[in-house]
Amino acid sequence: MKLEFEVNGEARALEVEPLRRLLDVLREDLGLTGTKEGCGEGECGACTVLVDGVAVNSCLVPACQTTGARVETIEGRGFEAVQQAFLDEGGAQCGICTPGMIVMTRAWLEECAARGVQPDEQGARVALAGNLCRCTGYGAIVRSAIVRRQSNLSHAADAPGSPVALRGVRQIALAPYDRGTEALRSVLEQLATADDTTRVIAGGTDLMVELRTGRTKAARVIDIRALDELRGLREESSGLRIGALETCADLRRSPLVRERFDVLSQACAEVGAEQIQARATLGGNLGTASPAADLTPVLLALDARVRLISLAGARELALDEFLVGYRRTARRVDELIESIFVPWLASGTRCAFRKVGTRRAQSISKLVVALALRVDAGKLVHVRASAGAVAPRTLRLRALERELDGRAPTPEVLRRAARAAALEDATPIDDVRSTASYRRHALARTLVTLLAELTTVRA
Ligand SMILES: Cc1cc2nc3c(=O)[nH]c(=O)nc-3n(C[C@H](O)[C@H](O)[C@H](O)COP(=O)(O)OP(=O)(O)OC[C@H]3O[C@@H](n4cnc5c(N)ncnc54)[C@H](O)[C@@H]3O)c2cc1C
Ligand code: FES
Ligand code: FES
Repeated sequence: MKLEFEVNGEARALEVEPLRRLLDVLREDLGLTGTKEGCGEGECGACTVLVDGVAVNSCLVPACQTTGARVETIEGRGFEAVQQAFLDEGGAQCGICTPGMIVMTRAWLEECAARGVQPDEQGARVALAGNLCRCTGYGAIVRSAIVRRQSNLSHAADAPGSPVALRGVRQIALAPYDRGTEALRSVLEQLATADDTTRVIAGGTDLMVELRTGRTKAARVIDIRALDELRGLREESSGLRIGALETCADLRRSPLVRERFDVLSQACAEVGAEQIQARATLGGNLGTASPAADLTPVLLALDARVRLISLAGARELALDEFLVGYRRTARRVDELIESIFVPWLASGTRCAFRKVGTRRAQSISKLVVALALRVDAGKLVHVRASAGAVAPRTLRLRALERELDGRAPTPEVLRRAARAAALEDATPIDDVRSTASYRRHALARTLVTLLAELTTVRA
């Protein structure tokens, strides 16, 4: 396909394979070797660049999704002041990680400025959590990031030479990448002839890694990221409809989601680091159906429903019916996940989310738990509990729900219910991240703690 986009203020056009990584286009085709490759799997942040002002891992971005975009790399303008701060404060520790850290820092400072938030150490640590350092530590890096607040920030929009004509040219790359019409219908027509070697790509944070490592083989890939029909939040009389292409960053920042489903905001903030959240979509999280996914437990506890569309029509399934097994869903190959419907919470409902991993950010959950319940006249009602990473798929904890519903939340009741979840609901196995017995133990402990917090009973 012909890729037309803007790189560091210059209009560029070149022939590329649609799924070629933006990282390779920049380094190999355009000679912009300041952007580095560390892990190649979205974990280290060395390849961070700005796409339309948003920091992303260029190793996970397919070239076809940058058509018409504005890409900025460390060689571009607007990074000078951050670079100087990294020099002055000793944050430039090694040549592989530093460019990505500087790019991420600029994106964060611009976001702070846009939101009127004062950059501080805690914010810098969260923002840079996806930029790994394994040599020296983060003291000087974080100092470099926040010292920047003293100087003037030249905003990305000031960068010269933006070819306005290229903006908004985004087109869907349809296999065989003929850059055809961008209508939803044409995607559904492509899917109507799909088989199980056809994949759709949204943010690509799962699929790009799977294709690269060979864990997934695809004969045909259909890019759906430009489908506006799959975006947006819609308030309906009985709940909120969330477009499948809404990203974790969109949901985390949405005042509506924070106000009505704060537990979902919290879970979105735990998905990878900033660069991942900028691309990871809700539909993709459900589409992968990883047993360790962080959003599925919350959505199960919230009684969410998944709307699937195809040329044959639409159908809506409870999320519990949609998840059918290890990385398997009830989606037919001709269907797209269009949206996720989350019913409004009844007044007085309390929710909780907890993720247990090996480090604060970028860790795959060893355990993830979500709860929603009400205490009515001293009794627990409408208890919804779910857990991930304790079975081949994300589970509703029905034994726990059975033990709690209609009972007063005494410490003994909470402990008995948590034990039932660990022994009856969970079916963990030993794997590289944890043993089965650790997971059962952690599940029971986490449930008791969260239930005690939600019911304000000391366990
Ligand atoms: C470094 C790193 C850290 C991560 N950390 C976490 C984490 O902490 N927690 C977590 O839960 N996940 C994590 N992930 C996984 C991933 O980011 C999420 O699962 C994300 O939500 C996937 O969304 P996506 O848009 O990138 O999906 P894609 O990669 O585009 O697609 C994923 C799958 O879903 C299918 N799909 C996507 N959209 C649709 C649709 N609308 N209709 C039908 N099928 C669709 C695709 O065909 C594909 O099979 C991490 C990934 C990386 C690389
Ligand atoms: S190379 Fe490590 S995140 Fe891209
Ligand atoms: S800055 Fe590169 S490993 Fe520490």
